[in-house]
Amino acid sequence: MIGAGQLARMTQQAAVDLDVELTVIAQTATDPAVRAGARYRIGAHADAAAVLAGPGRRALGFAQDKLAARADFRAAGFAVPAYAPVRAPGDVADFGAEHGWPVVVKARSGGYDGRGVIVVAGPDAIPPEIGAGDGDDPAGPAWLVEAYVDLVAELAVLVARRPSGPGVVYPVVETTQVDGICRHLVTPVTAVGPAVAVEAVRLATALADHIGAVGICAVELFVAPGGRLLVNEVALRPHNSGHATIEGNRTSQFHQHLRAVLDWPLGPTDPVAPAAAMVNLIGTADCADPSRNLPAALRVGGAYLHLYGKESRPGRKIGHVTALAATTADALDVASRAVAALLTP
Ligand SMILES: Nc1ncnc2c1ncn2[C@@H]1O[C@H](COP(=O)(O)OP(=O)(O)O)[C@@H](O)[C@H]1O
Ligand SMILES: [Mg+2]
Repeated sequence: MIGAGQLARMTQQAAVDLDVELTVIAQTATDPAVRAGARYRIGAHADAAAVLAGPGRRALGFAQDKLAARADFRAAGFAVPAYAPVRAPGDVADFGAEHGWPVVVKARSGGYDGRGVIVVAGPDAIPPEIGAGDGDDPAGPAWLVEAYVDLVAELAVLVARRPSGPGVVYPVVETTQVDGICRHLVTPVTAVGPAVAVEAVRLATALADHIGAVGICAVELFVAPGGRLLVNEVALRPHNSGHATIEGNRTSQFHQHLRAVLDWPLGPTDPVAPAAAMVNLIGTADCADPSRNLPAALRVGGAYLHLYGKESRPGRKIGHVTALAATTADALDVASRAVAALLTP
């Protein structure tokens, strides 16, 4: 596995159950997955990605290049936000004049948790570095600009596909992002009706098939006014939106990912409770270590705590808490209380 952060760490936990030996490409010997016992080699993610970019290269490209993904998905008939590559400094202003303000400028690759996503209010607010010199870069534009979607909600659907045999899909989750970073999710979805949820599953399954994904394919969807679904992005790996599957579904996304990439039979995806919620534990300005509050958080009955073994930094995901309940409101309440306890100064 390329990378040794929390996704690799939780995949390692699943690998132990199946006695699969996982080797991760880590940046340091104290990365979260290495601390969880994964074998590792030290290396740069970009180099490892290049080495492994054989089979599955096309699919991976869509996860790593937002411009290529938008273009391919639109050509294949999937609805995406209106967008354009930024080839020259004037392109953002032109796009805004045509589609209206605000617009969203995005780094074509390398962004995550909202890093690389800039909401631009008007022509006077365009950051000067956007589009400068891109016209001459043989790698093509570094930025794209897209219409700001007046979001009714954001949904995510996990699909798992194996090289031979049928795939499976998980129930839709509703995610809430603040400043581009996922704060929490609930399932079943509350912000949209069942027809939109059914369409989200159909869309994600069709997109994963189109891509030819192997393993977990997470599809992030925007719900635009009127319930219209737009594809935001895909990830070809376990995803933050699937963390509640560890306790909330009959097969966790991490077990499923291993089964899918090893071409083993996939597991059932049914929820094990009427409702689930997951709240991310995000580092605060004081950079305090949440593990000092572990006993207090463990007093919150029904909260499943996950600490990633990462140093706390403002805005950094350092853990998550899941809860199962009769309603999403109750589940969110339990998980939120445990997170609040962990973050108490
Ligand atoms: N076109 C858009 N309109 C409105 N909000 C957006 C748009 N693009 C991104 N966002 C917000 O920013 C978040 C992060 O953007 P995304 O493209 O998913 O980048 P990342 O790779 O950081 O997850 C989204 O989940 C959404 O909340
Ligand atoms: Mg995203």
